[in-house]
Amino acid sequence: MRVKKAVFPVAGLGTRFLPATKSTPKEMLPLIDKPLVQYVVEEAVASGIEQILFVTGRGKRAIEDHFDHAFELESLLEGKGKAAELCLVREIAEMAKIFFVRQKQALGLGHAILCAKEFVGSEPFAVLLGDDIIDAPTPCLAQLLDVYESYRAPVLALEKVPMVSISSYGCVRANQLSERIYEVLDLVEKPAIIDAPSDLAIIGRYILTPGIFPILEDQAPGKGGEIQLTDALLRLSKQESIFGRQFEGIRHDCGDKLGFLKATVDMALKRDEFNGSFEEFLRLRLCR
Ligand code: UTP
Repeated sequence: MRVKKAVFPVAGLGTRFLPATKSTPKEMLPLIDKPLVQYVVEEAVASGIEQILFVTGRGKRAIEDHFDHAFELESLLEGKGKAAELCLVREIAEMAKIFFVRQKQALGLGHAILCAKEFVGSEPFAVLLGDDIIDAPTPCLAQLLDVYESYRAPVLALEKVPMVSISSYGCVRANQLSERIYEVLDLVEKPAIIDAPSDLAIIGRYILTPGIFPILEDQAPGKGGEIQLTDALLRLSKQESIFGRQFEGIRHDCGDKLGFLKATVDMALKRDEFNGSFEEFLRLRLCR
């Protein structure tokens, strides 16, 4: 069965970006001129996803508005003859079939995914986290879907990270099958460095099967008192094989202030519209 559905858990509180996220969802923070979440929706659509469910929470209405038509704005742009801008605004509302469900309490990523149970039904599905912006020649999700096609089993995006930062991630012990493909043998959420089974971190892209839902339904809270997806995946791995794909591309952790800044600089350096003037500005600043 082809993977057509994707779940975007966006109900987190975004505390690392306060006060910016007091009334603006973290996912709507712009990288230059586009909200973070739009980059990730574009990745999903480019990978063949047709239906997207946002798992939202309080204060996330701006995401719903962003992916809807904005009739007043559209007719204003039309009246002013701003055809390019009109097209830009209209396209966003037509990218995919978009659905929403509320996670009434932020009980953790695992719990957010459980809120997608009815939407998913009996199909395999993708999960994408809006914090991870991945710049890759082949969309990261498409790379995972390739592995799914071969094994018809859950697939996690993996990245080798410096050992000093492994405690910020879910981490796997895995058996390498080929250059970038692994069979996952063990999973630990945010391990202490000495307990980490490897430097392979789980990144915010997953292909999951509906077998995860009964596990999430009785998953006890783990690290931070939250219902952790990693803990549920560990239990799932006892029932079915789970694979990992060390993706090709550059990941920016935009849930973190420094990562967000780096992403902004990287993206700006790539934009033709600035015509080298941003690079020039950076050079002058660094020479001061
Ligand atoms: P994070 O751990 O980054 O949490 O969640 P956060 O609340 O977004 O940000 P900080 O740490 O407070 O700054 C990882 C992903 O899981 C979603 C978040 O929206 C984010 O995409 N999430 C987390 C939920 O949807 N619900 C939850 O209960 C927790």
